[in-house]
Amino acid sequence: MTASLTLSPRATACGKVIVAGEHSVVYGYPALAAAIPSSLELTATRGPADEPVHLRIDAWDIDVALEPDTDHPVARAALEVFGYCDGPLRGWSIDGTTSLPSRAGLGSSAALTVALARLCLGQDAPLGAVVEASLAGERVFHGEPSGIDSEVAARGGLLRYVRGAEVEVIPLRHALSLVVVPSGKPRSTADQVAKVRTRHDRFPMVVRPVLDALGALVERSITAIEHNDLDHLGELFNIAHPLLASLDVSSWILDEMCDAARAAGARGAKLTGAGGGGCILCLPQDDPAPLFAALQARGHAPVRIDLEPSS
Ligand code: MEV
Repeated sequence: MTASLTLSPRATACGKVIVAGEHSVVYGYPALAAAIPSSLELTATRGPADEPVHLRIDAWDIDVALEPDTDHPVARAALEVFGYCDGPLRGWSIDGTTSLPSRAGLGSSAALTVALARLCLGQDAPLGAVVEASLAGERVFHGEPSGIDSEVAARGGLLRYVRGAEVEVIPLRHALSLVVVPSGKPRSTADQVAKVRTRHDRFPMVVRPVLDALGALVERSITAIEHNDLDHLGELFNIAHPLLASLDVSSWILDEMCDAARAAGARGAKLTGAGGGGCILCLPQDDPAPLFAALQARGHAPVRIDLEPSS
């Protein structure tokens, strides 16, 4: 790519929730993820010409200079994205505003790397280039990510994703309401993925069928969504959670939160994303108020995500 000395003034990217297929997606199985629209906005303004690009996102406690010898992971990831895009290394100041919590399994790092790529390449740059640039940064955070977070952060919508294959957009015929509940416990995706690898390598004959089941769950979840069969979808959430726990990626906090959500009437509840900490994902009844009240009474701050029917 040709070196560029300018940045677009503004770029946005989505967050994500994985509805089904986290972790098994790393092994080539499908996953289903929904975008949380316009979750991060970056604005770029001119700074002192001889100073390194500065990145600041107060909500995530990020305030870093993109110095070539930095060991700050966010700065290193940003430098990888800028390197891929041949973006400027000096003379800019980037500020971010976001509604997403960081390190919570909601795709904050992919949102960041996608938005940085768009600052360099343009908000309407081809999706393939934006995703590749984002992945250059994502590898700093997560080692070898499957790529699902970058695809959702760039494209938005509801996507069926298989590593290395064409992304499939799943049209939504009916609105779908989901509830995300942060545990408040941060975790590292790379560590969680490594835990599954350890278990897989130690007991391949046991773990492979679990991955098969998680892959099958994705196809059944898509069918349930297509038929607006929310009770089935909720049941599939309830099957997914213990399968993921058997891969060593749940925790007592997430197990307890899922139990509490089900007891409060959720149709289903599961961990979402890498697990360990991060968030759970619940499928509420038509009236989500009792679920919200019960979770809030336990000190949680549930967030509703409304996926609108495709136009
Ligand atoms: C993280 O959002 C999803 C995982 O499946 C890791 C990945 O796909 O790279 C846990």
